[in-house]
Amino acid sequence: MSEETFDLIVIGAGPGGYVAAIRGAQLGMKVAVVEKRGSLGGVCLNEGCIPSKALLDSSELYHLAKDRFAVHGIEVQPPTLNLGQMMARKDDVVKKLTDGIAFLFKKNKVVSFLGTASLLSSENGTHRVEVKGEETKVISGKKVILATGSEAVQIPTLPFDGESVVSAREALSFPTVPEHLLVVGGGYIGLELGSVWLRLGAKVTVVELLPRLVAGSDGQVAEALQRSLKKQGMAFMLGAKVAGVAKKDGKLLARVEGEGETQEISCDKVLVAVGRRPLTAGLNLEGVGIAMDGGRIRVDADYATNVPGIYAIGDLIAGPMLAHKAMEEGAVCVERMHGEPSQVDYGCIPGVCYTWPEAASVGKTEEALKEEGVAYKSGKFSFIANGRAKCMDETEGFVKLLTEAEGGRLLGVHILGPRASDMIAEAVTVMAFGGSGEDIALTMHAHPTLSEAIKEAALDLDKRAIHG
Ligand code: NAI
Repeated sequence: MSEETFDLIVIGAGPGGYVAAIRGAQLGMKVAVVEKRGSLGGVCLNEGCIPSKALLDSSELYHLAKDRFAVHGIEVQPPTLNLGQMMARKDDVVKKLTDGIAFLFKKNKVVSFLGTASLLSSENGTHRVEVKGEETKVISGKKVILATGSEAVQIPTLPFDGESVVSAREALSFPTVPEHLLVVGGGYIGLELGSVWLRLGAKVTVVELLPRLVAGSDGQVAEALQRSLKKQGMAFMLGAKVAGVAKKDGKLLARVEGEGETQEISCDKVLVAVGRRPLTAGLNLEGVGIAMDGGRIRVDADYATNVPGIYAIGDLIAGPMLAHKAMEEGAVCVERMHGEPSQVDYGCIPGVCYTWPEAASVGKTEEALKEEGVAYKSGKFSFIANGRAKCMDETEGFVKLLTEAEGGRLLGVHILGPRASDMIAEAVTVMAFGGSGEDIALTMHAHPTLSEAIKEAALDLDKRAIHG
């Protein structure tokens, strides 16, 4: 039987891969996607962004009903947790969204293959890809995009066992609320999943190697976020690491080393969230001669690897491992193949930590500007003085705007506050258009909204905030 041939084969149906496939089909390409997981959407939809946000939203509602309704004059019996229903709702959200990708593939005539892909050969402009599924088949394409994403990094002293020492995947589905969850890594995953289980009643201790949380984020945001999480009951051991874990009397005993002393901490589960690394196993990158760069696949401005016709995007290549960054690269990669001058604006990648309050940012931090010796101005406004935040009883946090000292171009925006994840979009847009703090200050913002805090922070650049 002759091999099926496509214009484009995308390996991996995560946010980068599925967007590349749909955009390719929209541009008239005959597209195949190879995915080894039984459902589409990759880590993001199946065991990352989406299920974690479903649980963050549910656990936030539980916390509000338990601790915050009374202040609004709503008297309820103390709510009880139905964890099974909470998990079922999360699974339903995941199913609807992954089915949605399958629907979009059908609509765009993207052919999907279930199986593990391996690059067989690249000759005369044709790339042959083996797909090992229920049966093994070979398909060929004029172009191939590698979009296989990443996997959780494992610490040698704390190997995952799927039960006691786990990655985010298992921590999204604990069957009961752990009494004490030890989180290793105070980054995005650690703080988000730590928040979920804290709100549901677990004791949560975060062990972080560095002396601060969310490395790379604005220092003031990280400090204020830590204060807020501490107030919520989360415990922190900064500048510390877990040297090992032993089982004793049905519990886990973790040895935590920090500041010259070692402590033994009793817990039920250990979530290891110390970063992710590109997932390339089985692709046969070496076999076809694809060059790497510091553990990531090396690509040029077209996302082309050193092997003509083979491209790579998302977590496999340089840059932050974020779903939205991969999505942009997926679309831009196929548009450039098609001769369009598309580009990803790497200076404008928003980052969001979905704790409560949420931490969202775009552009440079104050620390980075200082290090680079850039002259800048800073404007700040606290939600305590924002009318809508008062109405919501959500007054923690602030907006910080950083602009060029001369010219006023917006260089960075850092928000800690309610729905910072949605508010950051305004800052991203202004920055993408090369706008200034003055542009924001001159723009009318609806009253009363949380977004007025952004306008007030812009006014504060010239010390003329009205409510500050
Ligand atoms: P991360 O890179 O955000 O944080 C890992 C933390 O672990 C760092 O603070 C690091 O200093 C610390 N660490 C490293 N080794 C350690 C050790 N031995 N002991 C204690 N601490 C140690 O990584 P995370 O949270 O695992 O997330 C993985 C990736 O997924 C990130 O690249 C992130 O961008 C992405 N992600 C993004 C989310 C979002 O956009 N909201 C949510 C979840 C993940």
